[in-house]
Amino acid sequence: MVENVAPVMADLEPEDFYLLSGVEQGMRFSEYVAREKLPQFSRLTAEDVDYRLDRCEDRGLVERKTIQYEGFKLTFEGYDALALHAFVERDTFDGVGAPLGVGKESDVYEVRSYEPLALKFHREGYTNFREVMKEREYTADRDHVSWQYTARKAAEREYDALESLYPDVSVPRPVDQNRHAIVMEKVDGVELSRTKLTDEQVLPVLELVLAEAAGAYEAGYVHADMSEYNVFVTDAGVVVFDWPQAVTADHENADELLARDVENVVGYFQRKYPALTDGLDTTELAECVAAGEAPTLG
Ligand SMILES: Nc1ncnc2c1ncn2[C@@H]1O[C@H](COP(=O)(O)OP(=O)(O)O)[C@@H](O)[C@H]1O
Ligand SMILES: [Mg+2]
Repeated sequence: MVENVAPVMADLEPEDFYLLSGVEQGMRFSEYVAREKLPQFSRLTAEDVDYRLDRCEDRGLVERKTIQYEGFKLTFEGYDALALHAFVERDTFDGVGAPLGVGKESDVYEVRSYEPLALKFHREGYTNFREVMKEREYTADRDHVSWQYTARKAAEREYDALESLYPDVSVPRPVDQNRHAIVMEKVDGVELSRTKLTDEQVLPVLELVLAEAAGAYEAGYVHADMSEYNVFVTDAGVVVFDWPQAVTADHENADELLARDVENVVGYFQRKYPALTDGLDTTELAECVAAGEAPTLG
């Protein structure tokens, strides 16, 4: 579990962020950054580095390790603090609110702006990284940026997909991206998995989801993790979210992934509403979506 860093943000001073960003820079070269390299990376005096390191370590933003030398690395909390700082500096939002969801590989919070927005911290690489590191000794320096890099790439991929798809496809409106975090419209809806649709709603809602899959494919993307957990049902229709693993339509497995997306969604409806979805042919529906057409059901 990564702790919510929002409560410590108010305590942090500009020089603390110099230090954190100095550690971040040093981590491009080694997993742990030697203390004596930090004045150069952070543009602080050696004394200030010592003082700031203690403050940041107390707040769980950096981790110390003494191997042959005394070194420091950012924790995920430290990386979160840097992203939050960047967003606040550029007025994307001014405060972090309640958690909206803890996903498989993310932490999502509501944030305050001129309207409520959603902030998603990507955690890809976090769990895996921990497991990998348990098995292996802390010697293989080439893996040192693993989680940071993986999580940042995931955020970039998700943001790119949202920017390409919005507003033609019903996805959350993208607002900003920094490091491993993205800011987007906060969707007021219920995850499909948690809805109990009336008999009259079942096929129309499935139709809407397949229409978005078809629209995304036409716009050049396959979601590749489509399921009842990544679709919101709102008053206005459906919103498909969680796009970091999306592939472009020219990807070698795009058609396979698209068919799997359709199978996932149709399969969910078939399990939950068997009587109403009896006659549906998944293969036919997948072909229809791959042709960029929204199937008409019932
Ligand atoms: N734009 C949003 N507005 C409101 N809630 C969101 C938004 N994006 C994500 N969430 C909430 O956070 C949870 C996790 O987000 P998701 O993008 O699915 O990440 P993961 O990859 O971890 O599954 C979602 O199930 C949802 O409840
Ligand atoms: Mg999800």
